[in-house]
Amino acid sequence: MNPFVYEIPTKVYFGEGQLSHLGPELARFGKKVLLVYGGGSIKRTGLYDRIVKEVEAAGLELFELPGVEPNPRVATVRKGAQICKDEGIDVVLAVGGGSTIDCSKFVAASACVDHDPWDFFVKGAPVEKALPLVTILTIAATGSEMDDGGVISNPDTHEKLFTGNMALLPKVSFEDPTLTYTVPKYQTASGSADILSHVLEVYFDMAPGLYMLDAFMEGLMKTVIRFAPVALAHPDDYEARANLMWASSWAINGFVNGGRGVDWSCHAMEHELSAFYDITHGHGLAILTPRWMEYCLSEKTVSKYVQYGVNVFGLDATADPMVVARQAIERTADFLYDKLGLASTLTDLGIDDTNFELMAEKACKAYSGDCVDGFVRLEPQDIVSIYRMCL
Ligand code: NZQ
Ligand code: ZN
Repeated sequence: MNPFVYEIPTKVYFGEGQLSHLGPELARFGKKVLLVYGGGSIKRTGLYDRIVKEVEAAGLELFELPGVEPNPRVATVRKGAQICKDEGIDVVLAVGGGSTIDCSKFVAASACVDHDPWDFFVKGAPVEKALPLVTILTIAATGSEMDDGGVISNPDTHEKLFTGNMALLPKVSFEDPTLTYTVPKYQTASGSADILSHVLEVYFDMAPGLYMLDAFMEGLMKTVIRFAPVALAHPDDYEARANLMWASSWAINGFVNGGRGVDWSCHAMEHELSAFYDITHGHGLAILTPRWMEYCLSEKTVSKYVQYGVNVFGLDATADPMVVARQAIERTADFLYDKLGLASTLTDLGIDDTNFELMAEKACKAYSGDCVDGFVRLEPQDIVSIYRMCL
């Protein structure tokens, strides 16, 4: 068990009606607000009008960066940074999901430097400071509302890269589950798969960790498995949406790591799929996860699968460990494909093996250099094998 530091200075307003605190919270940081949002869902749902009202009531001045893409592009970050510099923006307000929040994080950081935003990702330019960021979360998925990192894409180079720094942590996040009632079924399912994957990436580690954290992660996974189908069947079920939303934040805000630090295998492989094919992040993870589990199962790793199968799915602890492990993988696949209704293969998404070798190399390069050093060390040929299992 490694020593660790845990610090999470994001203030969260959770629950229905909390947006009434938006104006005063923004005003703490200054007068000029850059509102960043996606493709228009916030206008269709009426959230945009509510925000404008709150901001105006607080006497603040509003500027806008609309049109952030799912898998946000570096070009949009550049546009936002320029607005911040031209207008002297004091605080960035991200309204949306992981894409909008991630884009806003790097808008906020790029506003404080003279170099291009992409240098944070490929030239090792450090993120040392950023404008204050406030978020209003509209979809339970990535946890970007309460973590210190973000992922930005550069379609010209087929790159989708992650970097993080405490300076990027939102200062305040608003999490009102009713704002997620309008999330389409496909995005609800993909977001839920993403939350589950964030936990699995940390949980599946053979190094000894804290029992308390393993039990916490099992609770998070059971929460997603229990409530995602409810949210799909009843989009306006408050309890289901609230549980998914809070699970989204706690899956990836650093708490569950407790000194664990292996590379995230499915995320390494998925980011390449998104970079090359612009697919939905959580869906890519849903396709990869059961195959990755299958590929990594061995006499050496079986005990972790048994722990997962018994504590999350209630499988029989006294049965043969390999049998339990396989059942645990089947139950995971059943949840992702049958309960969430996500298509189960890359072929379903129109992806063939053309770029597997290149994507495998890039995944390794983006993580440990020559491999993805995760639950089980994956070299490029292992990653190609896992991609092939997904066809
Ligand atoms: O763009 P709009 O019109 O708002 O529509 C969005 C988008 O089309 C829609 N949506 C969101 N809230 C809605 C809604 N539609 C109706 N009602 C609502 N309330 O959902 C679509 C997807 O939104 P997006 O923000 O792309 O989804 P998500 O939150 O899953 O974010 C995905 C991005 O985050 C990155 C992913 O790689 C991907 O780029 N990640 C960020 C992480 C982080 N910062 O820590 C970690 C993750 O592992 C992940 O990599
Ligand atoms: Zn993710």
